[in-house]
Amino acid sequence: MSILNRHSALERHATLLLVTSLVVVSIGGIVEIAPLFYLQNTVEEVDGMRPYTPLELAGRNIYVREGCYTCHSQMIRPFRDEVERYGHYSLAAESMYDHSFQWGSKRTGPDLARVGQRYSNEWHVEHLVDPRAVVPESVMPAYAFLRDAPLDTSDIAAHLVANRRVGVPYSDEMIAEAAADMRAQAMPDADTSGLEARYVNIHIGDFDGQPDRLTEMDALVAYLQMLGTLVDFSTYDEASGYR
Ligand code: HEC
Repeated sequence: MSILNRHSALERHATLLLVTSLVVVSIGGIVEIAPLFYLQNTVEEVDGMRPYTPLELAGRNIYVREGCYTCHSQMIRPFRDEVERYGHYSLAAESMYDHSFQWGSKRTGPDLARVGQRYSNEWHVEHLVDPRAVVPESVMPAYAFLRDAPLDTSDIAAHLVANRRVGVPYSDEMIAEAAADMRAQAMPDADTSGLEARYVNIHIGDFDGQPDRLTEMDALVAYLQMLGTLVDFSTYDEASGYR
């Protein structure tokens, strides 16, 4: 009984209750958070992950700006129904270069973690311009204006620098060439040798169907076409993680 009596002191003093609750909660917090700073490896490595190309990063910024994440998640959970519908469940390493994460849980539309290369560029442009032209029952808003919005190349180097500050391994060369690389990836006739040396496994082409223009549509479609295509699953082993 005595311990319950002592507890009643806490219940009668709001400030004391607040202070002791904070102490208890911070013990729990420290126990969970502190070990993460000392673990060498919280994300298992996988083959194929690379930083996003400047064009993909610009597309990702547009994805965030337009709020696509309010209807689309980018995380396939390790459940049979999800894996059968979307493909291999998402690995932590697949979002290691994401600032901020696009995991989400709200799915008005389907998960997009592995949408890359599932449709053609033309399909994506048509769908973004007028979703109902492709999927009659769709409730997705139209984003036709992206096809007419010129892509701003002036601040992309700064975006790479900002990502480098939070741990994405962009080299000085990648940053210096960012604006040129962004143009080269979306221009079919450009010299892409430098771009391809800096980034492996990339899709080059005229994404928006307007070969002479660099638009926000180019960037967004380039981003969508990359999603989920980087990891080489032939080198990934279910049981031990990595072989
Ligand atoms: C109001 C909710 C909503 C918003 C916002 C939204 N979508 Fe969608 N999206 C949907 C729905 C619903 C579908 C399924 C029907 C369809 O294909 O149009 C869909 C389908 C898609 C698909 C096809 C996926 C597949 O596997 O078939 C892609 C790609 C896509 N959206 C991209 C985007 C992008 C990029 C944006 C932001 C520019 C966006 N969506 C914004 C609701 C939304």
